Amino acid sequence: MYNVIFKRRSVRFFKDTDISKVDMREILRAGMWAPSAKNRQPWKFIVVKGDSKKEALDLMEKGIEKSEKGEGVLAGAPELYTNARFTLRCMAEAPVLVFVVNPNGRPLTDNWTTAEKIHELSDVQAIGAAAENMALQATTMGIGSLWIGNVFFAYEELHEWLGEGEMVLAMSFGYPNHHPCPLARKSEEEVIEVRD
Ligand SMILES: Cc1cc2nc3c(=O)[nH]c(=O)nc-3n(C[C@H](O)[C@H](O)[C@H](O)COP(=O)(O)O)c2cc1C
Repeated sequence: MYNVIFKRRSVRFFKDTDISKVDMREILRAGMWAPSAKNRQPWKFIVVKGDSKKEALDLMEKGIEKSEKGEGVLAGAPELYTNARFTLRCMAEAPVLVFVVNPNGRPLTDNWTTAEKIHELSDVQAIGAAAENMALQATTMGIGSLWIGNVFFAYEELHEWLGEGEMVLAMSFGYPNHHPCPLARKSEEEVIEVRD
């Protein structure tokens, strides 16, 4: 297992080779078998390719432009725009884009009670587990993945386009066209505290 964990990298350049339906289904199945609070399985995986992918990326472009003009949920974060544009380029190269939506999620802009917040946090944790399962399964198959939080630049646009649930994340999948070096991790002393 450690081999796969250490081998997984965020892949940002992809070959122009499609992923077969069978292989993609295997990756999605790995996501479906993630744990979730009360086994709610708070996810729907929306697989986007071809012209649909172009539509989604056009919306993301619009969202970034909107943010640059100081509108939208990520307005006022100019340090993030260059990175968002780069992510958009990575997404364009990858043959498959998967949005994970929470069918019972609540809009970001809602007023939340603490209990609702905890409920949503649990669902988001489960979706994170599903995403990592997919990334690891893809790694074992020689397929690269990129976890994309920058889709929130187009939160309103993509929410409407997806047409259901609350968007939690997106992931690009494709055959890697580069071999990214591992990025350093914080030291064990910094992040592990043992109390006994
Ligand atoms: C929640 C989350 C959101 C992320 N969003 C993006 C993104 O929008 N664009 C991007 O290029 N990478 C994104 N990443 C990838 C991280 O930059 C990457 O995981 C981190 O730099 C460590 O590199 P590694 O995945 O190769 O180990 C995201 C990762 C996570 C977990």
